[in-house]
Amino acid sequence: MIAGNRSINYLRISVTDRCNFRCKYCIPSTPFKVIEHHKIARYEEILRITRLACELGITKVRITGGEPFVRKGILPFLEQLCGLDGLTDVSVTTNGALLNRDKIRRLLDMGIRRLNFSLDTLDPEKFARITGRDRFHQVWDAILTAHDMGIAPIKINAVALRGINDDEIQAIAGLTKEYPFHVRFIEYMPMGDSDVEKQQQMLTREIQDRIIAAHGPLSPVEREKNDGPAKKFSLENARGILGFITPVSSHFCSECNRLRLTSRGTLRPCLLKNYETDILKPLRDGANDDALKQIMIDALTQKPLSHDLDSRTPKDVPISHMTSIGG
Ligand code: GTP
Ligand code: 5AD
Ligand code: SF4
Repeated sequence: MIAGNRSINYLRISVTDRCNFRCKYCIPSTPFKVIEHHKIARYEEILRITRLACELGITKVRITGGEPFVRKGILPFLEQLCGLDGLTDVSVTTNGALLNRDKIRRLLDMGIRRLNFSLDTLDPEKFARITGRDRFHQVWDAILTAHDMGIAPIKINAVALRGINDDEIQAIAGLTKEYPFHVRFIEYMPMGDSDVEKQQQMLTREIQDRIIAAHGPLSPVEREKNDGPAKKFSLENARGILGFITPVSSHFCSECNRLRLTSRGTLRPCLLKNYETDILKPLRDGANDDALKQIMIDALTQKPLSHDLDSRTPKDVPISHMTSIGG
């Protein structure tokens, strides 16, 4: 599939808007509605949409949430997904709290070789404050177990926030000296009604300055085919890679190769633009494969070439929560 001059080969599928965590930057502290069960795409519906997307050139799928492992039946679903023709790369973004040795073994057996974990702090108490859950040790154990069992690369996502975890930027970056992980710092994107203040947002320049002050120079690492939006660097004598995801300070829309399928069964051509088109309703109403493929092709005509999150009064702020889009 093509959008402008961009070839779209990456589908991000959010399988649920539910999450067992309550990360401050992702979920508001005030009550919010979850999507009713019958409105969430069933696994067989997701599999059909994905099969058709593969016929249109999707080769890479990432499963996101909410937290994917809270959804019942996720492992058999992933097994079926991995069996689809044309998919060469299936991976999952998770908070890690529900992963254990048995589940990681099943992921490896079905061909899932890499995982991305969200981890914003190495301090158990701070972890509980950020996520609302006292689960640091489970998550860290899951990351180390996945590493021991051969999941590679392991990518760690940390959203850097002033007054929350900025004092740990050096320590989190330092993980790349000890482990072959890809540690990525993500600029906070204002989404829906999160409780994080704009002044807490930290941009990559400042994050990099702090890392350089503590660890010395950052050497650029060359991009590989199929790389995501992270700009990659390494510290001297490091085993891992440092990545910076810069949606605010330097948008990467012109290279964006993604399409998103939300848990409500809508296609979202851009994370930050509030345009979604329903593919689940036509599917449930009996649309044939060609009609569903046309809906995907048409959705991509709405994929923008830029966004304005860096402006003082951005117009593009998404009205949906990250949990329903999947990041
Ligand atoms: P891989 O390259 O496959 O490892 O995936 P990834 O880095 O895109 O996946 P991940 O789910 O770990 O996302 C990391 C962060 O990048 C999340 O905070 C996402 O919200 C952000 N992100 C991912 N894709 C986009 C995008 O298309 N636009 C913007 N603005 N942010 C994105
Ligand atoms: N800004 C930036 N990243 C976010 N994530 C969730 N909400 C936000 C936000 N508002 C990240 C999580 C997770 C990834 C999928 O999205 O840390 O790693
Ligand atoms: Fe859950 Fe991830 Fe959002 Fe945290 S960032 S609340 S783990 S979906």
